Amino acid sequence: MVLASAPGKCILFGEHAVVYGQPAVAVAIDARIQITLEESKSGWRIDDMKFDKNRHPHLDAMLKRMWIGDGGGPLSVHIDSDLFGAAGLGSSAAICSGVAAALLHLGGTPADELPLPGIATTAHLAEAEAQGGRASPIDTSTSTLGGVVMVSDKKEPQAHWQYTRDLRIDGIRRTWEVHSVDLPESISEASLVIGFSGRPGPTSQMVAKVAALLSNQPERMEDIERIGNVTRAGATALSLGNLQAVGIAMNECHRLLQGLGVSDDDLDRMVEAALPSSLGAKLTGAGGGGCMIALTTEPRRTAQAIELVGGRTMVSRLGAPGVRIENE
Ligand code: PMV
Repeated sequence: MVLASAPGKCILFGEHAVVYGQPAVAVAIDARIQITLEESKSGWRIDDMKFDKNRHPHLDAMLKRMWIGDGGGPLSVHIDSDLFGAAGLGSSAAICSGVAAALLHLGGTPADELPLPGIATTAHLAEAEAQGGRASPIDTSTSTLGGVVMVSDKKEPQAHWQYTRDLRIDGIRRTWEVHSVDLPESISEASLVIGFSGRPGPTSQMVAKVAALLSNQPERMEDIERIGNVTRAGATALSLGNLQAVGIAMNECHRLLQGLGVSDDDLDRMVEAALPSSLGAKLTGAGGGGCMIALTTEPRRTAQAIELVGGRTMVSRLGAPGVRIENE
C-alpha cells in the first residue's frame, strides 16, 4: 500500500494576466489531497466503489499514462481531501501530482528520489487531457514542487528557473518557464488566511468575461500589463521577506482585478473585513465566487473577521511542502 499527499494552491499574484503572457505566482498551502493506492483482487475500485472513469477524469488520465499503458493491473484508490471543493484551490492538480508520486513509489522509486520535474510534466499533461486540452502548468507545478512557484512566458530574474513546460492548445504551442521563489525565514512571521465564499468560481466564464472586456476596450490591456508588473514586484518582495510590500502588491492586484470585473460582492466583503488586521488581501484564482486570501500576522483575528461576513476560512503557512510519500 502506498500513501502519497500533495498540497493545494492559491494564486498570490497574476491571475487572469497570466492568460495574456504575464507572470503569475502561486503558493502551496497546508491543505492537502491524500492518495492511497493498493493492488486490488476485485478489479478497479475507487473509495470502495467500482471505478467510473467519467466521474474521475483526472485519475483516469494519470492511470492511462503511468500504469495501464505499462501493463499495470487493477488498483484500489482512495482519495481524501482537506481542501474546500470547487473553490479554485487546485484539487485536480493535487490529485494528478499525488497519483503520479504514488504510482512511481508502487513501481519501486524510493520516496526520496521522486523525479519532481517528470511528475509535474505528467500531471500537467493529464490535467490538460482531463480538461479538454487546456491547462496552465501553475497548479500542477505548485502542487509538485511546493513552496512558492512563479510561471512566466520568459525566465524571470527574481526567481530560480526549474524547467520549461509546453503544451499545444487549440493548435498553438504554448511555453511556460517554471520557477521556484526562495523564501527567507522571516516570511514565517505571516500566515495566509483563505476565505471561501461557498460558491464555486466559474473559471472559464470569468476568463471569457475578461476576453470580452479586452476585445471591446483594447486599451484595458494596460491593466493586464500592470498586473504583470505588480506580480514581479510581489515576487521580489516575497524573496526579500518584505511582508509590507507583499501586502501592498496584493491590495493593488485586487484593485486591478476589480477593474477587470472579476470580483463580486462576497469576495469584496471578505477582503474588506480582512484588511484592518492584514498586511494585504485579494481575491485568488478566477473570481466570480471561489476564494480570497489575506496575508496577516494575526490569523485568528483575520479568520474571525472573514467568518463574520459569511466566509469559511482556513489558515496556512506561506508555502507548504510539495508532493511526497507519507508511508515510508
Ligand atoms: O480558479 P483557479 O485558481 O484555477 O485560477 C484560474 C486562473 C486564471 O488566470 C483566471 C485562469 C488561468 O488559466 O490561468
